Amino acid sequence: MCGIVGYVGAQQAAPILLDGLTRLEYRGYDSAGVAIYDGAELKVAKAKGRLQVLSDLIQGGAAIPGTVGIGHTRWATHGAPSDVNSHPQVSRSGRIAVVHNGIIENYAALKQFLVDQGVPFASETDTEVVAQLIEYFYHGDLLQAVGRVLHRIQGAYALGILCADCPDQLIAVRRDSPLILGIGAGENFLASDVTALIRHTREVIYMEDGELAVLTREGIQCYNHFLQPVDKEISHVDWEIDAAEKGGYEHFMFKEIMEQPQALRRAVFPRIRDGEVYLEDFGLSDAYIRSLRKIYIVACGSSYHVGMVGKYSLERVLRIPVEVSLASEFRYRDPIVGEGTLVLVISQSGETLDTMAALRQAKKLGAQVLSIVNVVGSSIARESDVVLYTWAGPEIAVATTKAYTTQLAVLDLLGLYFARRLGTLEEEEYHAILQELLLLPAKMEQVLEHREDIQYYASQYFNHDSVFYIGRNLDYALGLEGSLKLKEISYIHSEAYAAGELKHGTISLIEDGTLVVALATYDALFDKAMNNVVEVKSRGADVLALTTQAHREAMETLASGLITIPDTHPMLLPSLGVVPLQLYAYYVALMRGCDIDKPRNLAKSVTVE
Ligand code: F6R
Repeated sequence: MCGIVGYVGAQQAAPILLDGLTRLEYRGYDSAGVAIYDGAELKVAKAKGRLQVLSDLIQGGAAIPGTVGIGHTRWATHGAPSDVNSHPQVSRSGRIAVVHNGIIENYAALKQFLVDQGVPFASETDTEVVAQLIEYFYHGDLLQAVGRVLHRIQGAYALGILCADCPDQLIAVRRDSPLILGIGAGENFLASDVTALIRHTREVIYMEDGELAVLTREGIQCYNHFLQPVDKEISHVDWEIDAAEKGGYEHFMFKEIMEQPQALRRAVFPRIRDGEVYLEDFGLSDAYIRSLRKIYIVACGSSYHVGMVGKYSLERVLRIPVEVSLASEFRYRDPIVGEGTLVLVISQSGETLDTMAALRQAKKLGAQVLSIVNVVGSSIARESDVVLYTWAGPEIAVATTKAYTTQLAVLDLLGLYFARRLGTLEEEEYHAILQELLLLPAKMEQVLEHREDIQYYASQYFNHDSVFYIGRNLDYALGLEGSLKLKEISYIHSEAYAAGELKHGTISLIEDGTLVVALATYDALFDKAMNNVVEVKSRGADVLALTTQAHREAMETLASGLITIPDTHPMLLPSLGVVPLQLYAYYVALMRGCDIDKPRNLAKSVTVE
């Protein structure tokens, strides 16, 4: 949500800012703007709508010359999307410009204070309060003024600040909202996401909460909350630029679906050595693992669905109770996190605000927190006791695909690692699962090769306006993700139900022509799944079934449409089963002409509550 880019150097800033903002478009936004120092004053250009509108307004940047500037894509929180509410927001003199991600919670009181001092306001934003307050405290030393403001504002924020009085520098501030500094030669950058920097530099500094940084052409100096200089580690970003480009595909989502086998290889192969699971820098001792009495999995959205699969699979192999909680619920329910409880946090972005808050709460309650995260150096990764990266590479499409499958794979590895130490899995089964994990990428390739079958079914059913996903056990958890994929990108209403629950109410919604996606991959419950298919068919439903090769024949006679996946160990079935569901949602959305990579109302990383 929202994007920040800043540049100070010798090149023209505006084209660099526009390009950086383009790389952040995937995060979701409703307006955009830039502020550039043109040698005499700050020039600000802002526009509601797509970045192209802003780009046209400033002729691709040519209309605002200058070598230092800040840019922003805004997702409205305080004040409707409009030119005036877009960022940068400027102080009354027009000499201080601010871009901001996050929310200033006490902005109303601060605004009132400034209004009482006679400060006029132009916008409805909380961000303008920051710009005005900096000016209020500014008496020739910008860093001091920003420091004073930070002691007064509350909330979550990443800020980029430019002042016409010291136009050779940018100030960056971070609290609970990501901000990364990029180091170039004779130029430096700031951005809310590494994808905005990667074309210019791979050397980055991850700012910590409460830190400030002053960027000039020559270098970057970071400071703590008390404005004392701090030395920062420089990290190298090693993924390729192509990873954040479409590479000939029509949509990022399709590219990322197709990338899954490769992403799985990266997540799994280095972690299996000599027939054992190897987890890098794993900070949990064997004694700790043996003392475990309960595992909480905490996450949002699709990451939560990974947790739902994890509940079934981890309980099966560990014989330890696993409770899955939506992060937004966990944080407000006074959770019982006692001794012997591990909190497992799952997040692609590593920045989801609710998940972050739940993590902090769990730590406060004394739990060890282990996170499974994709974005390296993200807040959740940094604040966890132990982090396992998914190594899926940048995920740009709003609807997650490769992050989901790699999260599952890492969770499976973790389950095996724990099971080995707890002695809860027979040697033979342990090795059978490991073997299947190694075969998973190739089996996934087989599923992807048959994508035209799924495209065909999408062409048959894309007009249904309500779809039910049913399944039991792991198939139920899988259905939750299939249903979310469909609704978020195709805007079709869909629900996932535990198939055994149908009779308890939902079946009344089934009528002639209702589409039911029946998930029947789990061998142990296949007969029950068949019964449910018969049940909905006899009420007139069209049934699109998903099962394994082994059950193809049995299902063929019943379902109107049939998708099969290769046989594998039950624990890994959702990893294969989710791929046709992702493809199905993708093709349906394509046929309905939806904006697949940027679905309405959604943002890639939800950094507000
Ligand atoms: C759905 C989707 C979201 C995210 C959720 C959590 O396709 O992408 O439901 O899974 O917002 O995000 P992370 O995993 O970044 O914490």
